[in-house]
Amino acid sequence: MKKIIIAIDGYSSCGKSTLARSLAQHFNYAFIDSGAMYRACTLYFLEHQVNLQLESDIENALENIHITFNRIDGVNTTFLNGKNVEGEIRGIAVSNKVSEVAAISTVRRSMVKIQRKAGLDKGVVMDGRDIGTVVFPDAELKIFLTANFGERVKRRVLQLQKQGKSISQNEIEQNLKHRDHIDSTRKDSPLKQAHDAVLIDNTNLRENEQLAMAIALIEERIKNIG
Ligand code: DC
Repeated sequence: MKKIIIAIDGYSSCGKSTLARSLAQHFNYAFIDSGAMYRACTLYFLEHQVNLQLESDIENALENIHITFNRIDGVNTTFLNGKNVEGEIRGIAVSNKVSEVAAISTVRRSMVKIQRKAGLDKGVVMDGRDIGTVVFPDAELKIFLTANFGERVKRRVLQLQKQGKSISQNEIEQNLKHRDHIDSTRKDSPLKQAHDAVLIDNTNLRENEQLAMAIALIEERIKNIG
């Protein structure tokens, strides 16, 4: 069966990674969580106190950053220079800083290069903010996910609870608002729906309903391109 590229973009905590992961499993495609890459960079910058005002510091740091993904117990896990950082990159320290780091063009250029390489053989589901607009503007299928703000906060609270992290609802709301603002107003590759993306508002959809919709879309695309 012909392999395609599936780009999934949308706001934070509206279920992009969940959908992307399930689709990758269903079609036996690779899954790339591009947000995890920006998070891993941010962790490195924090740990090494990289000065975000100094282009040379950023460039040096990027040369020393190697991000890989591995499956552990069936779960896609992010490694930074060989160390499992999946837990740390989801914490509040990284979450509070990641949008600032992701707005830096030098960082984006470096990440986009890696992301495009991952798509060379197609058969990839990648989720993020600029996958359909910048990374793979020719992706055969682009999905733009949204959900209302209250629902996104609820999902983020649950996700953090599952990881044993207790963060106040207020802090989560502030973090999501802050990231939405920076992600959608930055100059380089702002979060926006690609003109040819299919919009899915999943506020009232169950995970399996959303997955069924997306699978139907993909099967139709694959059929149409023969
Ligand atoms: O999907 P996420 O919440 O893990 O992403 C973390 C941050 O990284 C998010 O605030 C915006 C940024 N990001 C981006 O700018 N471009 C992407 N393709 C993916 C994420």
